This record gives sequence, C-alpha cells and structure tokens, in this order.
Amino acid sequence: MAETMKGLHRSHRCTEVTNSDIGSNVTLMGWVQKRRNLGSLIFVDLRDRSGLIQIVFDENDIGTEGFEKASRIRSEFVIAVTGRVEKRGGAVNESLKTGEIEVRALSLRILSESETPPFPIEEHIQTRDELRLKYRFLDLRRPNLQRNLMLRSKVATAVRKFLDEEGFLEIETPILIKSTPEGARDYLVPSRVHPGNFYALPQSPQLFKQLLMCSGYDRYFQIAKCFRDEDLRADRQPEFTQIDMELSFVDIDDVIDVNERLLAYVFKETLGVEVPLPIPRMTWQEAMDRFGSDKPDIRFGMELTNVSELVKDCGFGVFTNALKEGGSVRGINAKGQGHMPRKKIDALVEFAKGYGAKGLAYLSVNEDGTYKSSFAKFMTEEELKALVEAMGGEPGDLLLFAADKNKIVWSVLGALRLEIAKNLELLDKNEFKFLWVTEFPLLEWSDEENRFMAMHHPFTMPMEEDWDKIDTDPGSVRAKAYDIVLNGVELGGGSVRIHQDDIQSKMFDVLGLSKEVAEERFGFLLRAFKYGVPPHAGLAYGLDRLVMLMAGEDSIREVIAFPKVKDASCLMTGAPGPVDEEQLKELELAIVEKEEEE
Ligand code: AMO
Ligand code: AMP
Repeated sequence: MAETMKGLHRSHRCTEVTNSDIGSNVTLMGWVQKRRNLGSLIFVDLRDRSGLIQIVFDENDIGTEGFEKASRIRSEFVIAVTGRVEKRGGAVNESLKTGEIEVRALSLRILSESETPPFPIEEHIQTRDELRLKYRFLDLRRPNLQRNLMLRSKVATAVRKFLDEEGFLEIETPILIKSTPEGARDYLVPSRVHPGNFYALPQSPQLFKQLLMCSGYDRYFQIAKCFRDEDLRADRQPEFTQIDMELSFVDIDDVIDVNERLLAYVFKETLGVEVPLPIPRMTWQEAMDRFGSDKPDIRFGMELTNVSELVKDCGFGVFTNALKEGGSVRGINAKGQGHMPRKKIDALVEFAKGYGAKGLAYLSVNEDGTYKSSFAKFMTEEELKALVEAMGGEPGDLLLFAADKNKIVWSVLGALRLEIAKNLELLDKNEFKFLWVTEFPLLEWSDEENRFMAMHHPFTMPMEEDWDKIDTDPGSVRAKAYDIVLNGVELGGGSVRIHQDDIQSKMFDVLGLSKEVAEERFGFLLRAFKYGVPPHAGLAYGLDRLVMLMAGEDSIREVIAFPKVKDASCLMTGAPGPVDEEQLKELELAIVEKEEEE
C-alpha cells in the first residue's frame, strides 16, 4: 500500500537545494525520472517542477529494508526522501543546476506507484501529438511544458501588477450572455428555464467593458476567457484567453502609451528582455504595400515592390490583363536565391496558388547578366532591364511576381515572403520586433453577404478626417483602430469606440443593420449611450499568442494546459460528447437525424 504524508514535510523543491546545504538534511518529494542500479548503490534522478536532483541509496545509510524498498522504485513513482546533502561522489553534471551535489538517502517513502508511461517524460520526445494530448497530464510533466505554464503564470501576474499600478480595476464580466453574432460564430448554451432560448458564450467582453465605461469605472481590465466557433489554426483555439482592457477619456496615443509600457514591463519582468520604446507605427496601407500583410514580420526585409507602372504596356498578357482589370503587379526579391533549382521554384508556385494566385512569374538574374525566366520571352530587353532595376535585382537574385487583384497579390506575396524567410532560416525566435499597425479600413466588402462588414467591430470610431466620405465612398473610410503585431503575429487589437448616438446609427445603416435588428441585438448598449457616455477606447491581447511567442513555440497549444485539437475536440476528456436523453428532455431539445443527401 502506498505510504502517506503523515508527519512528513517537504523542505525544498529539488533544485532549491544548493551547495550551501552541504552537510544538512533535506526532505524532497517528486517523481522518479530515472533509476540506475549499481549493485551496492542505487541512483535516482528525482524530478519536480523546478528540475532534477540526484539521490543516492546506500544500504549502509538507509538500512536493509530501506534499500530493498529503493530497489522497487520505477520511473514516475512518486517518492519522498529524507537525506544528507553532499558533494557529488562521481563527476559533476554541468547540465544540471544541482550538478555538483547529491542527496544520500536516510529514509524513503513510496507515495504512489506508476505504470510505464506511454511515452518518456523528457524535454525532446518524438511522439504523435494525438498520444501526447490523450495523456496530456503526463505531457504536462515534461520540462518544456512546465516552463511554458510557469512563464504564462508569471506573465499574468506581471500584467495584473502593472495595470493595478496604472489605476485599472479588474472586473469580471458574464460568461452566459446574449448572442450577438457579428464576427465569428457563437457557442450556444440552451436554457432550461426558458426552453427554446439560448445563451451565447462571449467572443470577447467587448460590450460589457464599454458599459463599464458608461458606468464610470474609468479603467477596466480582465484576463478573460473568450469563445469562438471558428476554424482552428496553430494560433487559434475555440476557447482562448484575452488580456482585455478599456479606458475612458482617452484617444489613440493614450492607449498606445500605456500598452507600450505594459509590454516593456512584462518582457523585462519575465524574460529580462528590453523592448525599445516607442514601438514603431505603420499605417495599414503602408503595411500592405510594403509587406503584403496587416501583420508584417519586420525581422527581415524582402519588401514588396509595385511594378504596375513599369509593365503596363509590356507584351506579357498575364501582367497587362491583371492591370486592365484594376489589379496590380508586384514582386519580391529573394536576394541571392537565383540558383534555386526549378523544382523548388515550382514548389513556391504551388505555395502561391494555395493563397489564390493563378501563377507566379519568376526571373533569376544570372552571374553573366542574362536572365532565366518564365516570362522574359514576352518582354523587350529594355523592359526587362527596367524591371530588374526597379526590383534592385543583382546577379544571383531571384525575382518573383504576382499579378492579380490587390487583395490576392498582397496575400500571395505576403505569404511567400514569410515562406522564403522560413526556408532560409532568417527568423530568429529570440528577436522580438513589435509594430503598431494603425488606420485600418473601417469597413470591408463581403462578396458573400453582399454588404460592408465592420473590419474590427461595429463600435469602432471612424477617423475624423474621413467621416465625410461615409456616404460617398464608405470603403475608403479609415478607422481609429490599431493592432499590435509581434514577429508577424497579431498579438492584439483595439480601437477608439463610437460614443455618439448619431454616428453609431449611421454605422448600423452602412452595415445594413435595420433599426429593429440593431435594437434587438444591441439595445442595451444603445440605451446606455443615451445617459452620458465618456469617450473611450480599448484593446485586447491574445494571452496565448503572447506567451507562445515569448516561449519560442510555434503553436498556442504548447502554452495552454488543456488545449483542443483541430476539430475542436479534447482528446483527453473526449469532449464534446453526447448527453443523456433526460438532460435533453429537461431542455426541451431533441436531436434531429440529418437526412441522407440524395
Ligand atoms: P480581436 O477579435 O482582434 O479583438 O481579438 C483580440 C486578440 O485576441 C486573440 N485571439 C485569439 N487567440 C487565440 N485563439 C483565437 N481563436 C483568437 N481570436 C482572437 C488575438 C487577437 O488579436 N473586443 C476586441 C478587442 C477590443 O477592441 O478591445 C477583440 O476581441 O491575439
Ligand atoms: P502562362 O502564360 O499561364 O503559361 O504563364 C506564364 C508564366 O506566368 C508562368 O510562370 C505562370 O506561373 C505565370 N503566371 C500565370 N498567372 C500569373 C499571375 N496571375 N501572376 C503572376 N504570374 C502568373
């Protein structure tokens, strides 16, 4: 039978024991990483969340019974050891914090036994993700995940400390709310008391934080769980966490100022990294033109060049046709990649097609000044020379061009730029390049819905400079919206909010929301706005994305204790699952079998 804690107290975590403890007794508890049996001596690496320490069992110290017990120990057993700290008998282990010492066991308790785990509990394992996630409780024992979650806790603590000192109040907002679909799909929760009615889980605390401003709380923040039923990717989960805030009596610069200092504080406190302030700013238009992305990774160059003007009269139909249809021709210069074999270029073309390109035109500049190209034959020598010059092309360079609608050209070249940088290993995870992207378009045309949609959300204030264009050219109106971008990841976003009735009604108009629908969905907010609203603005970070980048991980799954997989299920618990007939009856719900399609 497993032993208990009775009368026993842990004195240290494993790596809290140091050289200065040599000669004294300690009591340690944790998991057995490894056991080596050398006949008269048994060595155990003991692990807890702080790291490893070596324990030595010697029959002369612990007695025959204790030694026999020690010989029963296996990996992942949970044990308690009391022993004397000594300088290591064998070689020093440079890679361990406790590498110069060991603990000679005087007594041992086996607190719990373990079956052989389905994969080794080690930093670097080659195990299928499915297995890791099914046994997440074991996966979470691995040192890298423990480091990530400890970092996450530290980040949250630093955020709270900083915002508290800046006069923010932490206020909770409800999880069971009214469904106000705009943006992603809502998760719905059926009501038992009101059969046929549903709560929604919040996609963000947006409306509640604006109401708190109406109520005079001045500065609010919350580390808030948010829920969105959308397609998952490496940086998206159906439930995720925001660092959410809202401030009264502020304009853009005030929000940016406090957030720059917040980021600098958090990076300094948790990673010891200095973030140089101010963080650079770039308008949305500039970001698209230079990087083909509203979240540019500015750790490297390879910027886009618009060559539309240069090629508008050339003989290459692909280019001229795109221009005739109102599109553009732009290119990037992959410096020194002119030798790229045809096979690899073809792979880039396929990659570009994944982003909607019809093709990708390429030209490599040979060392002798001649060209190898998919389109050179359609152009004159002069036209080619001018094109290469505009691209800054030198012998050994590879130039890649996309011709299409602006939106497609940007998305293709923006993605290609990142893909090439990744292939060339230009991206350093230890470098943190922040960027504010400002002046987003207020509206985005949706072909699907055949109407304008709010690019950020319907409560975002248009720029004063553009307000008079709201009727004549709504698509060109810019918003007082901003994103904070880190290494090409959208870390957070926010905006100055509309606080005037008339502008808000106009926005709903432009979005095609009738008075009735706006009242039905947002009536409570519109009502609140009739009773004295302070100008207000805010921002929300994805905490998961922030910690992912700080930890140098490629997926937010690595910084979330119990994440979901691509189809939004949890491999450990099996959620979502069916429920009892009885539960459905109480909710007055019935499952309707999908009819077989003809
Ligand atoms: P937004 O929708 O831009 O703004 O979200 C803010 C930040 O939340 C993170 N995020 C996600 N992280 C993980 N998984 C997801 N599915 C996911 N979706 C979003 C991103 C994003 O930048 N209420 C507004 C903020 C405001 O205006 O104040 C909002 O929610 O890092
Ligand atoms: P084609 O005339 O279709 O054989 O294409 C000639 C070259 O132009 C090929 O290298 C194509 O990949 C490329 N190409 C085709 N469509 C586009 C486009 N929209 N933008 C850039 N290059 C393209």
